[in-house]
Amino acid sequence: MKNRNHSLIFGIVHWAIAICIIIILITIFLRLNWMNKNHLAGIIQNYLSTTNQSLTQDQLIQLAKQIRKPMWNWHIYIGYVLVGLFSIRLFLPLFGTMKFKNPFNKELNFKEKFRFWIYIVFYIGIILSLTTGMIIELGPKDIKKPIESIHVLSNYYLIGFIVLHLVGLLLSKLSTKKGSIIEK
Ligand code: HEM
Repeated sequence: MKNRNHSLIFGIVHWAIAICIIIILITIFLRLNWMNKNHLAGIIQNYLSTTNQSLTQDQLIQLAKQIRKPMWNWHIYIGYVLVGLFSIRLFLPLFGTMKFKNPFNKELNFKEKFRFWIYIVFYIGIILSLTTGMIIELGPKDIKKPIESIHVLSNYYLIGFIVLHLVGLLLSKLSTKKGSIIEK
């Protein structure tokens, strides 16, 4: 019964985090592509030039940012949800569930150690993304710029982790050997 409860909590927290990360990635994709401010400004400019009107580049970018805002708000809302979910995730081991395994444990083989280290790097990366995201939103304006340049690096470890996670999952399915960093 205890194990079933642990699996249920693990499943809910894991999939809630996965769904939030997918939504965060979609917002970043849209911001970099279809909803990119320069791209949107270009569309507005093209339309205005067919009606003999014009705006300054600054005005075009302001307008583009306003169009992008309702989509981008989702990055921030889901960011806050992730802060909540990761806080739950990090506190759960204190209640005896979803404990982290120790990668220094001598009984682990190379593959297991490698997997656990990847998770640790991922958790450090996520904590950094969430903290820097919160500072951009809630922190003092004068440190916004340098913090933003750290925050935008989030993409690199995240995509790297997702690829490794999916490859690891596929390999473990193929070898039918179950494994996870979590003690359920
Ligand atoms: C897993 C968590 C997160 C990831 C992977 C992530 C990733 C990113 C990335 C890659 C960008 C840059 C987009 C671009 O190319 O311009 C960005 C921007 C931003 N993020 Fe996040 N983010 C996360 C969480 C958060 C949180 C928790 C908040 C705030 C509550 C937040 C607020 C922002 C804001 C305000 C920007 C825009 C900064 C600007 O205007 O240049 N993010 N995020």
